[in-house]
Amino acid sequence: MSCPEMPFDTKIKGEEALDEAAEIIRGGGLVAFPTETVYGLGADAFNEDAVESIFLAKGRPQDNPLIVHIPSKEWLPRVAKNVPEEAYLLFEKFSPGPLTIVLPKIDQLPLITTAGLQTVGIRIPNSKIAREMIARAGTPVAAPSANRSGRVSPTTAPDVYEDMAGRIPLILDGGSTDVGIESTVVTLAGELPTVLRPGAVTIEMLSEVLGKVVNHKGKVVVAEAPGMKYRHYAPVVPCVGAEDPADAAKKALSEGNAVVIGSSEFVGKAETYGCKVIDLGSTPEECMNKAFRTLRVAEKRYDFLVVEHFEGKSGYYALNNRLSKSYGGVVIRKKPR
Ligand code: TXA
Ligand code: MG
Repeated sequence: MSCPEMPFDTKIKGEEALDEAAEIIRGGGLVAFPTETVYGLGADAFNEDAVESIFLAKGRPQDNPLIVHIPSKEWLPRVAKNVPEEAYLLFEKFSPGPLTIVLPKIDQLPLITTAGLQTVGIRIPNSKIAREMIARAGTPVAAPSANRSGRVSPTTAPDVYEDMAGRIPLILDGGSTDVGIESTVVTLAGELPTVLRPGAVTIEMLSEVLGKVVNHKGKVVVAEAPGMKYRHYAPVVPCVGAEDPADAAKKALSEGNAVVIGSSEFVGKAETYGCKVIDLGSTPEECMNKAFRTLRVAEKRYDFLVVEHFEGKSGYYALNNRLSKSYGGVVIRKKPR
């Protein structure tokens, strides 16, 4: 029996399905597709009904704007106006890649896509499948991460299937994503270039092109980055952060079927106390790449997760931003010994 909210027999297919994907987008449907950061849930950015169905499939609040994906910077005038020279410089240097630039939107772009804002976040993904799908669809593609709202972002096609089965017709499979966390979001629509969400393109890298760049700190300005006020990346089992491997191990051992997740150095020390561990790797890039995937695996095998708190550790700024949301900011602070 088919349920009205689960109308689709969701298929996972490879690049042989690019034309089919483009056809679905053109017809106002949804397609999940790979990018180098996380999988996206795409629809024609100019089709209001299609964009509305993204919000419905995700269970996402409609005051959270979507990123619009284009295949090359030649498409910029199709979504943005008054594009400053800096935007071209940034796209030149970092695109295709994990950078989203917020610019004034053209009037024709529907407000549902930008959650009522007069600006639009634009990205050129570094995935051939993604760019080819958009080019063949012939329209800019609005796409949030392809997870149910609040859940851990998907980095494989099966991750997407877990959250979206029955809700969308097609998932394009491009294997595991390279970067593993979402793009850096920088706005050029305000007084000073401002990073609204940290990612693999760091504030230092942006400063080399732009000069002064500020960070989004302190109170969240709702009109600027509505996405920031919602709970994100939450595993389905309880999760805490820990500053120190010994405390992490102690907590894990006291919780029964629990695991400590962190960098090689951190879990190496935790393991000496006899707890279960998962090693994310020894560089920020490796850890970013495995973080979300690991949370999705760990929540199925364990009843409690203890995650390394990366705050202040050089190179781990963006990863700390995501993981601290997974454990809702609950951190076991280092005890003086
Ligand atoms: O890597 C990524 O960016 C992935 C892939 C699929 O491209 N997409 C993604 O989308 O992470 P999403 O919807 O999960 O996150 C988009 C975030 C929003 O939460 C919002 O904070 C910010 O980007 N954003 C989008 N448009 C904006 C705008 N016009 N002004 C300010 N922030 C915006
Ligand atoms: Mg998301």
